Amino acid sequence: MAFWLLADLLILLASAAESVAGRPAAGCQTRCGDVSIPYPFGIGPNCSRGKGFEIACNPRNGNGHLVPTLANSSIHLQNLSVAPIPLAKVMLPVAYKCYDSSDNVTHWFNGTVDLNNNSVYRISDRFNKFVVLGCNTMAYTTNGNSGGKGRYAGLFYTGCVSYCNDSRSAQDGWCAGVGCCHVDISPGLTDNVVSFGPWTCGFQVDFSPCDYSFLVDKKEYEFRSADLKMDLNRTMPVWLDWAIRDSVTCPPPEVQEKKSAGYACVSDNSECVNSTNGPGYYCKCKQGYEGNPYDKDQGCKDINECDVSNKKKYPCYGVCNNIPGNYECHCRVGYQRSGEGPKKQECSSKFPLPARLALGTYAPQNF
Ligand SMILES: *[C@@H]1O[C@H](CO)[C@@H](O)[C@H](O)[C@H]1NC(C)=O
Ligand SMILES: *[C@@H]1O[C@H](CO)[C@@H](O)[C@H](O)[C@H]1NC(C)=O
Ligand SMILES: *[C@@H]1O[C@H](CO)[C@@H](O)[C@H](O)[C@H]1NC(C)=O
Ligand SMILES: *[C@@H]1O[C@H](CO)[C@@H](O)[C@H](O)[C@H]1NC(C)=O
Ligand SMILES: *[C@@H]1O[C@H](CO)[C@@H](O)[C@H](O)[C@H]1NC(C)=O
Ligand SMILES: *[C@@H]1O[C@H](CO)[C@@H](O)[C@H](O)[C@H]1NC(C)=O
Ligand SMILES: *[C@@H]1O[C@H](CO)[C@@H](O)[C@H](O)[C@H]1NC(C)=O
Ligand SMILES: *[C@@H]1O[C@H](CO)[C@@H](O)[C@H](O)[C@H]1NC(C)=O
Ligand SMILES: *[C@@H]1O[C@H](CO)[C@@H](O)[C@H](O)[C@H]1NC(C)=O
Repeated sequence: MAFWLLADLLILLASAAESVAGRPAAGCQTRCGDVSIPYPFGIGPNCSRGKGFEIACNPRNGNGHLVPTLANSSIHLQNLSVAPIPLAKVMLPVAYKCYDSSDNVTHWFNGTVDLNNNSVYRISDRFNKFVVLGCNTMAYTTNGNSGGKGRYAGLFYTGCVSYCNDSRSAQDGWCAGVGCCHVDISPGLTDNVVSFGPWTCGFQVDFSPCDYSFLVDKKEYEFRSADLKMDLNRTMPVWLDWAIRDSVTCPPPEVQEKKSAGYACVSDNSECVNSTNGPGYYCKCKQGYEGNPYDKDQGCKDINECDVSNKKKYPCYGVCNNIPGNYECHCRVGYQRSGEGPKKQECSSKFPLPARLALGTYAPQNF
């Protein structure tokens, strides 16, 4: 653990020098194709927070459609969000190992990509699962490419076993150890790299010529027995948690108040939240505010809870009054709060119905 803290401190010192002043330079591109690229991410020099937050935007081969990738890699970025929780959705390659009938390996790829050179990302444990396909296989995922060296090597192993008795054993929709197995993952996974167990596979190459393994959005993969012969160039959608990893937790209040030393939560009305996946922190707008907490100028703005479009989320059975960070709700004249109050339920009349009819004050309350 001590090694780990030291390593992160070195990163802190290295990147403090890099960070820019809490916002992108003027004229930075904020979209690539149909994906918006909010700060601290950015496209081009001086547009992002620095290393690890750079996004490249290039036309896909052939057509002019612009596609964002993580800088200097071929990892396709599908979605990027800064608030309320920091997430990125990317396409990562499937790892595979294929055999011939004499059990010799014909194709082998362990899935490794330059996902995390700057340690910004972790594989989201909440939104992904680890899947193994094959008919006599064990595979596990682990931290650290480059032969298991790397800063986080040895801190993570998880995997599962899949077996089929014969060609008809695997069933569509079933991923419970027959042709397909899956496991949840824990926080802390840094890489997309797989090791396959050394089991004999030559005997079933006619119906299962390869073992496959991948991380994938829990909601986006259902096993098909035809996938036991899937293309070797498949990629799968994976959610990444990202964080500001310059410090191990939120910086102390002095640093936060001065918004100094590269502290990322630069918007007024923003606050710091400790990362739940890897060291570091992220920023969010205080309750009652919304926007980009990493942006000094276009940051967290007061939510107008009284706006018609917000009625469902912030109900008011009475007179609504927006105040900074919150809203007030009073009963109309002639009505009084009942039960849990006018934010939760309709007010009741101060007068019985016959009296209201006589006084001419009868009207539906919620017009
Ligand atoms: C980036 O910022 C640095 C320092 O502010 C400046 O010297 C440099 O010219 C900028 N580069 C571009 C491409 O704007
Ligand atoms: C990407 O490559 C360019 C030069 O090709 C380099 O200036 C830049 O620092 C690299 N970015 C990252 C995140 O490694
Ligand atoms: C990551 O680091 C390796 C080795 O330092 C380098 O070869 C590679 O280009 C880097 N990848 C990215 C995306 O910066
Ligand atoms: C990105 O994700 C958000 C929320 O998860 C969603 O509302 C939005 O439509 C997505 N954008 C794209 C381009 O998929
Ligand atoms: C499989 O490997 C063995 C030993 O390396 C070799 O002798 C044999 O010719 C290979 N078989 C095929 C079909 O390539
Ligand atoms: C994955 O494969 C690459 C390239 O073949 C290799 O350099 C690396 O050591 C492998 N990583 C692991 C964890 O096996
Ligand atoms: C296992 O496979 C063998 C050979 O195909 C077959 O005879 C047997 O019935 C299978 N057993 C089960 C339980 O499916
Ligand atoms: C993957 O490979 C198949 C053929 O093996 C090809 O038809 C397909 O277009 C390829 N897909 C991509 C995304 O390269
Ligand atoms: C972050 O974690 C540190 C260390 O566990 C703790 O002292 C601090 O109060 C936490 N900060 C927040 C905002 O939760």
